[in-house]
Amino acid sequence: MRERVRRSRPVGWLLLALLGAALLGSRASRLYTPDWESLDSRPLPAWFDEAKFGVFVHWGVYSVPAWGSEWFWWHWQGEGRLRYQLFMRDNYPPGFTYADFGPKFTAHFFHPDEWAQLFLAAGAKYVVFTAKHHEGFTNWPSPVSWNWNSKDMGPHRDLVGELGEALRKRNIRYGLYHSLLEWFHPLYLLDKKNGFRTQHFVSSKTMPELLDLVNSYQPDLIWSDGEWECPDTYWNSTYFLSWLYNDSPVKDEVVVNDRWGRNCSCHHGGYYNCQDKFVPESLPDHKWEMCTSLDKWSWGYRRDLKVTDVLGESEIISELVQTVSLGGNYLLNVGPTKDGLIVPIFQERLLAVGRWLQVSGEAIYASKPWRVQIEKNETSVWYTSKGSVVYAIFLQWPENDSLYLKSPITTSTTKVTMLGIKGYLKWSRDLEEGMYIALPPLPLSELPVEFAWTVKLTGVK
Ligand SMILES: *[C@@H]1O[C@H](CO)[C@@H](O)[C@H](O)[C@H]1NC(C)=O
Ligand SMILES: *[C@@H]1O[C@H](CO)[C@@H](O)[C@H](O)[C@H]1NC(C)=O
Ligand SMILES: *[C@@H]1O[C@H](CO)[C@@H](O)[C@H](O)[C@H]1NC(C)=O
Ligand SMILES: *[C@@H]1O[C@H](CO)[C@@H](O)[C@H](O)[C@H]1NC(C)=O
Repeated sequence: MRERVRRSRPVGWLLLALLGAALLGSRASRLYTPDWESLDSRPLPAWFDEAKFGVFVHWGVYSVPAWGSEWFWWHWQGEGRLRYQLFMRDNYPPGFTYADFGPKFTAHFFHPDEWAQLFLAAGAKYVVFTAKHHEGFTNWPSPVSWNWNSKDMGPHRDLVGELGEALRKRNIRYGLYHSLLEWFHPLYLLDKKNGFRTQHFVSSKTMPELLDLVNSYQPDLIWSDGEWECPDTYWNSTYFLSWLYNDSPVKDEVVVNDRWGRNCSCHHGGYYNCQDKFVPESLPDHKWEMCTSLDKWSWGYRRDLKVTDVLGESEIISELVQTVSLGGNYLLNVGPTKDGLIVPIFQERLLAVGRWLQVSGEAIYASKPWRVQIEKNETSVWYTSKGSVVYAIFLQWPENDSLYLKSPITTSTTKVTMLGIKGYLKWSRDLEEGMYIALPPLPLSELPVEFAWTVKLTGVK
């Protein structure tokens, strides 16, 4: 190789030099340094904003007691809550430890293709799966989680890998949830005792596992959590992220959230989650995601789930619409059973979202916030837009089939249609501002969706 280059003519050398300079230049322009100013300047890969709707999955050893929440271990032995102690006394033999739940996490009925098919039918463009929660159990064969991972114990399978394959066959983006802290890991407790001035846990557990996850599964998204007890300097977060953005196999497409150290969330990282279930009051100037759970009280599965604990279809769709109108993504959580089943009530809710998106997806996927987000009147109307097209999503059907929209400024070319219905709708200008739209008086059986209908406006300002 070297010989051939040496013998090439001067023009060849010039070309090589130019090429080299271009490569160096593009490399330099893509080089992020391990500080927030640099990392925060990275543009968010476009797929994330376009995706709008994702499914979150919380699955781990906590799915075995399946009681209280995925924080079971902490409530029981970290805080020693009486309710949890009584639950253990009444249901398990004396001396039963949390680790004894591990072998009972069987995943017997886990068919990743069935999950992926359900998430596809739900209209999800991405899925975020708990690779490891605060209990430290890894859902993949982590070489640094000896006998506390899904290959050595319980399922005896690589859950992270299997789900990823099934999702990617269906072009669904794959995100991995990863908890920085582990409640009871001896090295974490040692670092804590040292006031987090040592990093034994980070160098032997957190960093190796994050690198392993990225290199082995090439996730499109890393959903970081469990950051709150220590500053990002303890977690080595800016070093990890600069590697992720500069040199990792997913450097161009990967998206991360904002939980990378105490006081980081809502300030630094990729997109912002801020608090769980966070909803901003007005349009934020930074991409964000609202994460919430189908079970109002837990992210992990609970055996004593009641129907009234489950978000209703109209609640879910309202939240999705509000979130997207305010520029966010909506990440809806489901907790499978220890066997790997997604119970029918969760399936039903996910499929309801999918049916709604079949009709209304045009106003959601790849949309942008409009200049107005909400109009409050008899009925709530949320707006989204795509280029010059404006979508008004109204949550209640107006009493006399006449929808009043205050904000759109009509023109001579204004046209109105309704998603899921053929033909144009009649409309008229209000004398002062806004417009009235005559909705088709359809019988219930012919309504395109049962809730949250969308009118599409063209030629409005
Ligand atoms: C932090 O990251 C840097 C760069 O990857 C690495 O050299 C260093 O060892 C890491 N520190 C710890 C404690 O893992
Ligand atoms: C970080 O957060 C803690 C607790 O929320 C707060 O008391 C503290 O003032 C914050 N520090 C900075 C530098 O913002
Ligand atoms: C509410 O809608 C009615 C028409 O349905 C309209 O006359 C009225 O001005 C609206 N109120 C506000 C506050 O926009
Ligand atoms: C329908 O409602 C609008 C707004 O409240 C009102 O202006 C209009 O007069 C109503 N039409 C009928 C037929 O009641």
